[in-house]
Amino acid sequence: MLQCDSVSVVYSKKIQALYDVSLVVKQGEIVAFIGANGSGKSTFLKTVSGLLKVESGTILFQGQRIHHLPAHKISALGIAHVPEGRRIFSRLTVRENLELGAYLDGEKMRERLDKNFSLFPILKERQEQLGGTLSGGEQQMLAIARALMSDPKLLMLDEPSMGLAPIFVERIFQTIRQINALGTTILLVEQNAHQTLSLAHRAYVLQTGKIVLEGSGPSLLKNELVQNAYLGN
Ligand SMILES: Nc1ncnc2c1ncn2[C@@H]1O[C@H](COP(=O)(O)OP(=O)(O)O)[C@@H](O)[C@H]1O
Ligand SMILES: [Mg+2]
Repeated sequence: MLQCDSVSVVYSKKIQALYDVSLVVKQGEIVAFIGANGSGKSTFLKTVSGLLKVESGTILFQGQRIHHLPAHKISALGIAHVPEGRRIFSRLTVRENLELGAYLDGEKMRERLDKNFSLFPILKERQEQLGGTLSGGEQQMLAIARALMSDPKLLMLDEPSMGLAPIFVERIFQTIRQINALGTTILLVEQNAHQTLSLAHRAYVLQTGKIVLEGSGPSLLKNELVQNAYLGN
């Protein structure tokens, strides 16, 4: 579904954020990208979304070159990006936030809302409540639900568990599993290595802009470097 070959991204002459990143995400997978703060995870997602330009390398989505396309075209092809720090509209209701995630008319909009409400019953209950009055975990649910309103083929999540209480972290990871089971391919970026590797089919480990390891979730959980660097063993 997504194939990146030797992608390098440079912010300015002195700051190179990604070095020859190559990875694949196959249809139906949950692929994780783990790495410490500043390793380039958000930069990578922004590059796939078209918010940043590649310095060199290629990005293919379903066989089509997308690395030269503007962000709105990439989104229209079926890639949705939930950025770090849940950017919801706090003064709009839950329902209005969701409606902004899709350009649909009456009936289709209702169908899409219903689909999301069955995945996120808490948002259905709170659909008239202002976004800003939701708890952190509920706001993260809303950000994910809004991205799903466009019915993406690939959902990219940037640190969805960040800053959440353990019970919400658990719930977010369960939700990601459920979304995947319903057929959406997922690229998940996280610092929370343990839960992420338990969830992911495959994962890549990023260190200062370079991929240093890749493998199945379970195999990386047992890997010594991962255990020392990310799992605190
Ligand atoms: N807008 C920017 N301008 C310059 N450097 C940036 C910018 N955004 C991020 N960086 C640098 O790029 C590197 C990777 O950052 P980022 O992708 O945000 O990492 P992560 O998401 O893994 O924490 C860091 O060294 C960071 O300081
Ligand atoms: Mg980040």
